[in-house]
Amino acid sequence: MKSAKKLVPMPEKKTTPKHFLDLSEVHPEDLRNVLEEAKRIKKDFKAGKAPKLLENKHLALIFEKPSTRTRISFEVGMNQLGGSTIYMDSGTSQMGRGETVADTARVLSRYVDAIMLRCYQHEMLKEMARHATVPLINGLTDYSHPCQVMADIMTFEEHRGSIRGKTVAWIGDCNNMANSWIQAAQSFDFKLRIACPKELVAAPANLPSNISIIESSEEAVSAADLVCTDTWVSMGDNDADYKRELLASYQVNDALMSHAKPDALFMHCLPAHRGEEVTDSVIDGKHSVVWDEAENRLHIQKAIILWCLDKLD
Ligand code: CP
Ligand code: NVA
Repeated sequence: MKSAKKLVPMPEKKTTPKHFLDLSEVHPEDLRNVLEEAKRIKKDFKAGKAPKLLENKHLALIFEKPSTRTRISFEVGMNQLGGSTIYMDSGTSQMGRGETVADTARVLSRYVDAIMLRCYQHEMLKEMARHATVPLINGLTDYSHPCQVMADIMTFEEHRGSIRGKTVAWIGDCNNMANSWIQAAQSFDFKLRIACPKELVAAPANLPSNISIIESSEEAVSAADLVCTDTWVSMGDNDADYKRELLASYQVNDALMSHAKPDALFMHCLPAHRGEEVTDSVIDGKHSVVWDEAENRLHIQKAIILWCLDKLD
């Protein structure tokens, strides 16, 4: 699979593993390559072609938090590529008994070819990245969820073509998904309008002109090409009642969707809390592409692993 076609080199490419920690840390040309590869992999897979590019490769999956999509898509994806995965959590590994993140990273790097980590604190991901000598993939932290937003952009482009110049509305909490959307807007050059109560705004100041944070969800959705939302209470949040109260008027429902373009798409990374951040009529309605979005986790994951292991065309 590896050819002479040049990818944009990562800093210290020769000595540093190619981690996939955040969209802002991967060159936009590499992100585009990953996206196009994921589309190719999906098309080939549907046509019965699934080359075993990762035979004898092992991926460790470490989960501090629950998961359905991320775990299953990494496990199945790695399997489809001919490789295998090892599931770890703190309850059944020495991490739960205090073995340090650094030591865990050092040991795992002697066994496996790559590591995926889902954890609470982003700093834990950074710490593992500092000590892993194999690529590390961010499977969600309290700060970001880059694999999910890559799948979301893939889904948008499958339905509507290039996302460049389009308008994306994010409705709800300024959470890990919102942060990855902010980074994606800079790498993929689209407009992003975030509607969030001012008490919950947690985005960096001095955002570029294509990204705005406003209070009105109607204004954010106005003529948008894509409307996204997420749970009001993320895993690990300890202010659930406060968030539900602040976000009560930020539900994505038919009235809100009527402000978007008539052919606007609706996405949600899932799991959804039907009747809270989104109504049944929207998530099950004509704008929704949430099942394609979930399916695409499988294919984007494969492309990300291949990129990390230097196996992309
Ligand atoms: N969207 C997502 O990451 O889902 P899981 O929490 O089920 O992995
Ligand atoms: N913001 C959510 C995303 C779940 C995939 C959470 O962190 O719980």
